[in-house]
Amino acid sequence: MAGRWKNDLNWSDATPMSAYLNRRQLMAGGAALGLGAIAGPALAKLNAAPSAYSTDEEPNTLEEVTGYNNFYEFGTGKEDPARNAGQLTTDPWTVKIDGLVDNPGDYGLDDIMQGVSLEERIYRFRCVEAWSMVIPWVGFELADLLNRVGVQPGARYVYFETLVRPEEMPGQRRGFLDWPYREGLRLDEAMHPLTIMATGLYDEPMPNQNGAPIRLVVPWKYGFKSIKSIVRISLLADQPPTSWNMANAREYGFYSNVNPEVSHPRWSQATERRVGGGLFSPRIPTQMFNGYAEEVAALYDGMDLAENY
Ligand code: MTE
Repeated sequence: MAGRWKNDLNWSDATPMSAYLNRRQLMAGGAALGLGAIAGPALAKLNAAPSAYSTDEEPNTLEEVTGYNNFYEFGTGKEDPARNAGQLTTDPWTVKIDGLVDNPGDYGLDDIMQGVSLEERIYRFRCVEAWSMVIPWVGFELADLLNRVGVQPGARYVYFETLVRPEEMPGQRRGFLDWPYREGLRLDEAMHPLTIMATGLYDEPMPNQNGAPIRLVVPWKYGFKSIKSIVRISLLADQPPTSWNMANAREYGFYSNVNPEVSHPRWSQATERRVGGGLFSPRIPTQMFNGYAEEVAALYDGMDLAENY
């Protein structure tokens, strides 16, 4: 754990999200665990089609994308997921889709993958902790899946849950968060073409530490909205509870759109550090909606974004 704090300081990030947690709890969480076998079905077809939604910015390296992660089920340190997530069994994998849908059920990953078209989406990814990366995801539009299961008229929100399996997820043997990790989107956000279910990156199946075998990516929102290793998707009439909002509602709102003008209560969101830029590289200005304003600003017409943070 000492290494984690030192590392965070070296990388000159904002105070990490875990800082709201009790320090003693963090110290107790430091036991190192052995590396498990790398599991995972070869479900991300290689050579996914490129997309007009991709940025032409230089992607971060595979080492950066897979070596500096937030995945609290595997520990709160940035290097814990890479160290501990290898032991997660990702095959077989089932996603329960329920609530206000025409075809509820337990869908095997193969069922989900059939009939979706995989694309490469190179997106900026901005963590609420004020660091960012550029990541070449492989995935499909969430709207494709929702249209296939049939969204019923009363549905206004989509709720997601991560796997609960403390035997394989050492962080779940501690109360860092109230497990399962939960997230949610408004239905129109979920149906937006920028919103993807990612099953790989760098043309490889999703590495466990990045949320294998299937995770959400919503590029105009802070990274914590992009929930990993999803086992449940529910279509709901009402706004669902979400993990970081439950943990600290004042600091983490339901919307969590990237917004340089609305500070986190403990740090500014005006600038960010691009991971891998080197110790002395200047911070870069954070863009409204993480640079996706042209595509998504209309979703929030008439809303006070300081109020609905
Ligand atoms: N999903 C789950 N299940 N558990 C987590 O701890 N962390 C979130 C998000 N999704 C998290 C999660 C946060 S804070 C960020 S910044 C991103 O995952 C990090 O994604 P990456 O490690 O692939 O860059």
